[in-house]
Amino acid sequence: MINIAILGYGTIGSGVVEVLSTNGESIKKRAGDQIDIKYILDLKEFPGDPMMEKIVHDINIILEDSDVMIVVEVMGGVEPAYTFVKQALLKGKSVITSNKELVATHGAELLDMAKERNLNFLFEASVGGGIPIIRPLNQSLTADEIVEITGILNGTTNYILSRMSEDGLDFNTALQNAQKMGYAERNPAADIEGHDACRKIAILSSLAFGMQVDFEDIYTEGITKITDTDIRYAKAMGARIKLFASSVKENDKHVYAMVAPVLIKASHPLYSVNDVFNGIFVRGNVIGDVMFYGSGAGKLPTASAVVADIVDAAKHLNKNIWTIWSSKKLELTDINQVQHRFFIRVEGNSLTVKEQISKLFGEVEEITTEDVVGEYAFITSSIAEQELNEIKSKLNGILSVIRVRF
Ligand code: HSE
Repeated sequence: MINIAILGYGTIGSGVVEVLSTNGESIKKRAGDQIDIKYILDLKEFPGDPMMEKIVHDINIILEDSDVMIVVEVMGGVEPAYTFVKQALLKGKSVITSNKELVATHGAELLDMAKERNLNFLFEASVGGGIPIIRPLNQSLTADEIVEITGILNGTTNYILSRMSEDGLDFNTALQNAQKMGYAERNPAADIEGHDACRKIAILSSLAFGMQVDFEDIYTEGITKITDTDIRYAKAMGARIKLFASSVKENDKHVYAMVAPVLIKASHPLYSVNDVFNGIFVRGNVIGDVMFYGSGAGKLPTASAVVADIVDAAKHLNKNIWTIWSSKKLELTDINQVQHRFFIRVEGNSLTVKEQISKLFGEVEEITTEDVVGEYAFITSSIAEQELNEIKSKLNGILSVIRVRF
């Protein structure tokens, strides 16, 4: 029997209990042994809950029990998760986590600690919910140099954009629905401002390039400025607005990373990734393009990834699964130098406005939609972010700026 302890009995923690109970028999066969939950750490009591006897409030009970071989951290947030995870590794226990903040901030150090002790620190659920992406990057795509990772990595924002586009819901109603369904972070600002996707692309980039990509270095823009008018224009163009988290190696050397809403058309592989689903597009220099798709948030999909890590850790007791993520920092390309085409809306559609646009941007592609009047919308040619910012400072009445990927 392999005893585990779960830190946190919230949405994911209770999902892990449910998955282990629902699929206990097949999980036992795959792990080669029975997985038994010995403790659940939580601040609260759970009277009447089938797990109530296992609830403890003191981490030391878990740390001091040498029967516990695997600790599952599903509390979220950097502290006290970081302290507890380090203590567990120091006590010779492998750790599984779904906590992207913890992994993005301390992943390299915790992997090193696990490696030095022949333990494992696994975090499949930290990116893409139930979608296998960490293990494929570590194990299946090791023959490749990764050239690009672009993902729709936040279920909440993808759900909001889909509902706004398909059902005409306003932003707040769509967000409330996402919260009710357990997709959103405790503080949904982390979702809608792009911080959650930023941490996830930092993790994927660190694994893909084998060096530390600091999330603070990644240019991040959320979806809070996207309006129903932007969505109307997107529809008129046969396009959709998606929150992309990308990291791209240009000219075989420099990597840029960014999180921002983009306009894409049906020819993009991530176009059909809607609702709470996530999609991750990976381009390798020998394999070409591969796609990963599935439920990016929610109790059971995330718990599925956590339990798969528990099984992997159970199969690799006293044997470290090698993961390359050096603590050496990867210097990212200055985002100002990155080029895009931009969709821009400005107030007014007089000849003067059009002449000013043409003077500032040169030739642009004019975009119209029947039901919007009194403004001018267009797509620029490919220009650097810095150039755009310089032009923006000379332009009055800007209503919207969205990067274009077609
Ligand atoms: N709030 C996150 C999302 C949860 O919506 O994708 C999964 O990380």
